[in-house]
Amino acid sequence: MRRLARFARLLIKYWDKELVLLVCAGLSSLFGLIGPLIPMAMINYAYNRHDLFVFNMLILAGFVVFVFNGITGAIRGYTATYIRNMLDFDLRTHYYKHLFSLSQRFFQKRTTGEQMFRLGPDISGTVSFVVDTIPGAITQITTAIGVFVVTFWLDWKLCVLAIVAVPPFYIHSCLFGKKQQQITRALREKEQEIHSAMAEAFSHAKVIKAFSREQSAVKRYLSSWISNIRLRLVSYKIGLISGSSLSVMDTVITTGLTYYAGYRVIEGRMSLGAMVAIMLYVFKLMGVLKSFGDLYRDVLVKQVSMDRVLETLEAKPDVADRPDAVKVDRIEGDLELREVSFGYEVGQDVLREVSFSVGAGKTLGIVGQSGAGKSTIVGLILRLFDPESGAVKIDGRDIRELKRASYVDKVGVVLQEPWLFNTTVRENIAFGRPDASEDEVIEAAELADARDFIDELPNGLDTQIAEHGARLSEGQKQRIAIARALIRRPSILILDEATSNLNVSLQRRILANIRGWDQKPTLVVVSHRVTAVQDADEIIVLKEGRVVERGSHEELTKRGGHYQALFSCAGEALR
Ligand SMILES: Nc1ncnc2c1ncn2[C@@H]1O[C@H](COP(=O)(O)OP(=O)(O)OP(=O)(O)O)[C@@H](O)[C@H]1O
Ligand SMILES: [Mg+2]
Repeated sequence: MRRLARFARLLIKYWDKELVLLVCAGLSSLFGLIGPLIPMAMINYAYNRHDLFVFNMLILAGFVVFVFNGITGAIRGYTATYIRNMLDFDLRTHYYKHLFSLSQRFFQKRTTGEQMFRLGPDISGTVSFVVDTIPGAITQITTAIGVFVVTFWLDWKLCVLAIVAVPPFYIHSCLFGKKQQQITRALREKEQEIHSAMAEAFSHAKVIKAFSREQSAVKRYLSSWISNIRLRLVSYKIGLISGSSLSVMDTVITTGLTYYAGYRVIEGRMSLGAMVAIMLYVFKLMGVLKSFGDLYRDVLVKQVSMDRVLETLEAKPDVADRPDAVKVDRIEGDLELREVSFGYEVGQDVLREVSFSVGAGKTLGIVGQSGAGKSTIVGLILRLFDPESGAVKIDGRDIRELKRASYVDKVGVVLQEPWLFNTTVRENIAFGRPDASEDEVIEAAELADARDFIDELPNGLDTQIAEHGARLSEGQKQRIAIARALIRRPSILILDEATSNLNVSLQRRILANIRGWDQKPTLVVVSHRVTAVQDADEIIVLKEGRVVERGSHEELTKRGGHYQALFSCAGEALR
């Protein structure tokens, strides 16, 4: 019921169209009700009395009913299609917006394929529930009442007999409906799994090829499909058993009623015309009553889609702006982590009481073994997650007091995985600031030392770089990602292994460009390379989520501790 209310609310916006739909549906039921009266009148008043005038009038009435029925049917069809499409658009927009208001943690739990599947068939199922099932139910109920009244008026005994026959249909629907719902749920999950596997295989085709695992990728896909086919066959079987048992019940009951009515005609207790009309009504009544069973099954099956859509719509972002969050127009660039502890899962600490601070315009280096928690710190500064205890502060204010979008706007970041979009180089750079001018795009590209290779691309800045930047080398991708961060003219710039695929001289040049830039951002450099951090004002060394050393490159090198150990194997530290 709660689900129903939630989705039915979407219809309010289209109340006028919905009214047209209901009026047309009402007229259709009315025409359906009048229909059987025509043959009855034809037999009783035209044929039996050889009355040509009545005959002509009835033919005309039948024609008018037929034409009007056609017209209302067409209006109803168009209106339903209109509402369906608009509602589909509304729900998709709402869903998509909501999806991106959720935090990173939510995205990590769901695969791309799963999300896409929910945006596809699940939303369509939900819309169909609102557009087809709800108005369908209303029409069915009103038709049922109408047919019941007319049948009762014509012959109450047959009417009661027809109603007595209904409970078996209802029990039948309950039994098979639940089964069908289970299968639909399993089918949806299987199809979603196939989508996920496909999305993953396509975006990692290179890895599959490199390990020559094409066969197993195909096998995985096919075996998922085989399970899917099995489920579909089971679903078909259930449908078949359900359909056959339904038609057996139907035949038995219909034969019984026909026999009884025919018997009364032969006995002379009922006219032939009345019998034809009554039987048409009785079948109609049974049809409507039976269709409640279909309706019930339909509700159960579509409930699966609605539940899945609602699950996302009701998910709350765990990182959300507080109601009293302040919008910041500019930030100086002072950054501080104070006793920050954090874990992705409960009871698993990734960072333990990490503290550091870096003044505006200064540079902080973060080094440490793989898995020490460096990228986690970057995630916390961007507020992809909130710390369990402690605080991340910008200009002395806890970032939870600020409107996230307003300060993240002033932060530039190159993530460890610099995903690029399947569009032009220009749009990838301008992604950092969509309103950037041509000159600003070029300036950012120059600072990131990307100008030369961009100029050599077939269409320069307008070259399409394919999915995930497939047409570029890793180092070129990194430079575009750096340009994308710089174009924001950030007050804080975070480079997480941003130069790992560049040679040392190129890395030096880019870092020097950034330091000499008039923007003077606070720089946080995360790196496995000593050359990337040695000029930093302060370097912190992380080990298993704790800061174990801090100081300048010279101090740390002299100390001969973790920092020295980290780089000595590479023979780099003391250079
Ligand atoms: N999304 C996540 N969910 C759960 N655990 C995670 C997640 N991301 C990272 N971790 C865990 O947190 C720890 C720190 O990861 P993090 O990515 O911060 O390391 P890192 O220092 O950046 O390593 P690297 O140098 O290899 O990039 C690791 O043990 C990792 O397994
Ligand atoms: Mg990392």
